[in-house]
Amino acid sequence: MSAFRDLRAYLDRLVRELGEGEVRTIEGANWDLEIGCITEMMAEKEGPALLFDNIVGYPKGYRVLSNFMGTAARTAIAFGLPPDLPKVEIVRAYKDRSKQLKLIPPVEIATGPVMENVLEGDAVDLTRFPAPRWHEHDGGRYIGTADMVITRDPDTGWVNVGTHRGCIQSKDRLSLWLLGDRHNRMIASKYWSRGEPCPIAVVFGCDPVLWTAAPSPTPPGVSEYDVAGALRGEPVEVIRAPETGLPIPAYAEIVVEGEMPPIEEESAMEGPFGEWPGYYTHTGPETVVRVKRIMHRNNPILMGAPPMIPTTTPGYQAVPLAAAVATWEHLENAGVPNIRGVWAFARNLMIVVSLEQRYEGQAMQALLAATGRRRIGGMERYFVVVDEDIDPSDLNQVLWAMCTRTDPAESIQILRTRTTDIDPRLSPQKRAAKDFSMGIMLIDACKPYGWKDEYARSNRFDDAYRAELRERWKSKLAL
Ligand SMILES: Cc1cc2nc3c(=O)[nH]c(=O)nc-3n(C[C@H](O)[C@H](O)[C@H](O)COP(=O)(O)O)c2cc1C
Repeated sequence: MSAFRDLRAYLDRLVRELGEGEVRTIEGANWDLEIGCITEMMAEKEGPALLFDNIVGYPKGYRVLSNFMGTAARTAIAFGLPPDLPKVEIVRAYKDRSKQLKLIPPVEIATGPVMENVLEGDAVDLTRFPAPRWHEHDGGRYIGTADMVITRDPDTGWVNVGTHRGCIQSKDRLSLWLLGDRHNRMIASKYWSRGEPCPIAVVFGCDPVLWTAAPSPTPPGVSEYDVAGALRGEPVEVIRAPETGLPIPAYAEIVVEGEMPPIEEESAMEGPFGEWPGYYTHTGPETVVRVKRIMHRNNPILMGAPPMIPTTTPGYQAVPLAAAVATWEHLENAGVPNIRGVWAFARNLMIVVSLEQRYEGQAMQALLAATGRRRIGGMERYFVVVDEDIDPSDLNQVLWAMCTRTDPAESIQILRTRTTDIDPRLSPQKRAAKDFSMGIMLIDACKPYGWKDEYARSNRFDDAYRAELRERWKSKLAL
């Protein structure tokens, strides 16, 4: 378990465990596109975490952090795992841990560093923070990309947390894109149906484990704060926000609180924004937060997780924990034996399962079970199953299996299901007709079970021999 009290403790740990170069401070970049483009280019190289300071037009100390979990080693450290653990083993460790998780509710403390600066009334000004314009055609400055949006169910008291993109509309207006099925939207609707605005708080910077819990798909009634406590092994320390009474992380970097009126009463044009499939999407009237108070630490760090094309390792988490773990668990629950690993490529658009075949039809069973995990609103396209000698996190190995162990006439099935609004492949006609139907492909890239033992032998050295040579040659060669 790993409990970082705050984002700063995590950054310190990265430097301590992985060296000075792991968190690179960059001075003098412009919030307008430069930070976004540098972030993207460094993420493509799986480079260091980037801490931008002395941002053009802003005083020193008003910082932006990006690519914070952009390598497997940084992701492992965030979750208290050894940094050299193989990628699939990080998924396995997280899955095993998730099974034993006991929810730990937050503890309330009197105050915390987030109250070091409190801005109210005319002092409220979101543009005090160097929120980047991340992509060239973004419709504004997105301060909220790695945020936590907090509301409380007025009937049950359940505190919900989600991640929603947030754009600065003016000094005291923040727009949020809350899709219809999201819990925060459902909770807000309850207030709106009573003719009241929804009390709301938004966090822009906290420890990475707490933030990982924020967008996790927990069932209604379960607070992501409790999930974060379970993942950290210690409760999150919260304070009661002065205006809304909502629990906010005491060690957060920046928090705003206010109210969200019904969209019919007040809205703002939101978007477009360069989204995770790699295209600009969605423009339209969306909800706004009337910001009543800003709280922030001295020298605040605005945390950013700008979307990039999905084949770039996301700078905020190099290991696709949520999708891989959920699929792995789903396969186990469906009774698929001998799973060796699960991976998700291209932000979950391609799911790969590695297993040791034990019976005829097992590969197809795994494929069907994996597709069954797909949620409404999911966009997963390709499902692939490979043998146990293939590392599912290594795209080259997966490609090799797909190219040499399939007969496309036999090994591939196409099903028809539903995609999501954000899918660029929906034609304008289908979109207008609200027809979200889309194909998915199931690829059995395993050696055919009936004659797998007669399959041509691979000339690739096996992992055991590679490990032996790595050890023997380590002083002379970085193998
Ligand atoms: C980086 C990131 C950005 C996201 N942006 C949005 C968004 O703009 N709008 C949205 O409705 N969901 C967005 N999501 C998905 C929600 O955070 C996610 O579905 C979450 O589970 C919703 O919270 P809920 O479980 O409380 O409904 C995003 C997720 C991540 C990881």
